[in-house]
Amino acid sequence: MERLRLFPDSTKIENDSLTIAGHALGSLVDRYMTPLYIYDHATLDFSAKSYTDALSTHYPAPSHITYAGKAFLCKAIAKWTQEYNFFVDCTGEGEIGIAVAGGVPREHILVHGVNKSGDDLKSAMQHAGTIVVDNLTELERIHNILNDSKDLYSANTEALQPRQPIPQSNTSLWLRLLPGVAVTTHHTHTQTGQHDSKFGMTQEEILEAAKYCRENDLPFTGIHFHQGSNFRDPEPLIPAIDMALDLAKEIRFIGKWHFCPGGGWGVAYHEDELPNPSIENYVRGIAEAVIDGCQSRGLDLPHLHLEPGRSLIARAGVAIYRVGAVKKRGDKVWILTDGGMADNPRFALYGAKYSCLPVSGVSRERGDRVSIAGPYCESGDIVIEGLSMPNIQEGELIAIPVAGAYHMSMSSNYNGARRPAVLMLEEGKADLILQRETVDDLLKRDL
Ligand SMILES: Cc1ncc(COP(=O)(O)O)c(C=O)c1O
Repeated sequence: MERLRLFPDSTKIENDSLTIAGHALGSLVDRYMTPLYIYDHATLDFSAKSYTDALSTHYPAPSHITYAGKAFLCKAIAKWTQEYNFFVDCTGEGEIGIAVAGGVPREHILVHGVNKSGDDLKSAMQHAGTIVVDNLTELERIHNILNDSKDLYSANTEALQPRQPIPQSNTSLWLRLLPGVAVTTHHTHTQTGQHDSKFGMTQEEILEAAKYCRENDLPFTGIHFHQGSNFRDPEPLIPAIDMALDLAKEIRFIGKWHFCPGGGWGVAYHEDELPNPSIENYVRGIAEAVIDGCQSRGLDLPHLHLEPGRSLIARAGVAIYRVGAVKKRGDKVWILTDGGMADNPRFALYGAKYSCLPVSGVSRERGDRVSIAGPYCESGDIVIEGLSMPNIQEGELIAIPVAGAYHMSMSSNYNGARRPAVLMLEEGKADLILQRETVDDLLKRDL
């Protein structure tokens, strides 16, 4: 069944019902309620190994995978990344805190952010091996913090508190290039590298930043760029890689230097899309471009870093919702569930497409196209539009595959929603890794 191939590797149909890693989804719901998110450990391991195998096969110098924590980060996931010695990309102080609590060592924490606050930068200097500098103002801010001189960010709330001395930091700096070349994604909101993007520095700004680092003795060791998310054609990466290598040559990195052409490799969310694009082809394409580009410019091969989020974790996750009501309105059939934009805002943000199977009675013939929507007070609270489904009844459970990335990490408490529980599944083992929020949790910050 083509819809089944979207689900995690260990998914099976037993007694016409879905199981993952040997766990009947219906039984998990009996214990943990809905909405419920589950992750299949075997699928996570498979994706991680695909990346590490491809890198070691195609790149002859040191290389690293950086897991993009923005896709989904909690202590269990942070711990899992260290089974593979991955770096973890943290956006700011909050994700740094989770990575540290999950046992990620300093040298594996890499900090991103397009407008890092003074607190983000101080936390990065305390806990991270690498900061990816987004702009020239930030670079100056880092210099000032390092010198413990006047923090340009003193307008921050933190200025009201006693200043915390920053220990002499041994955090390296990479500069984020804005290549000005877009990759094709399904929506402009998932592009980051196009010429008018808010992210990163132009080539001229990179050269200025490199000069500033030299003049001020800042530990500048690498170049980074990221062009967008969920793309399938690595072609636009090549001119951006060439641009970054031209800059590396002009900057004259000597000996060990780092290069990261970001992440963003795609996954299939719907049976109408082509199957998941090959991780090996993506890694090989980048490795060959870097090797050739360095050879032709007489550059030492950099430590090569790739920064996938979605393609490591999206396929491992499944969202399980319960149907509360079914309504017919005009030509539309609405399947109303207890999950929606508060745990998965991706349709509302950029029209993301999904598929779905019922948890039981999987083999029922599919009929009318339905729209699946959540319980929240927004007309845009839609999860799926126009998907052919069997005749779904009130009270049934449905399972949405490819739910592992940018759901929980983008979730909210809209309408007082309490974020769902999250389980990590292995054969014979279902670990609760995030518990369901409660009303008390909602009230914790409410003074
Ligand atoms: C800097 C950076 N690196 C990596 C990623 C990961 O992208 P993806 O999850 O699509 O691989 C993102 C996503 O926006 C990003 O902004």
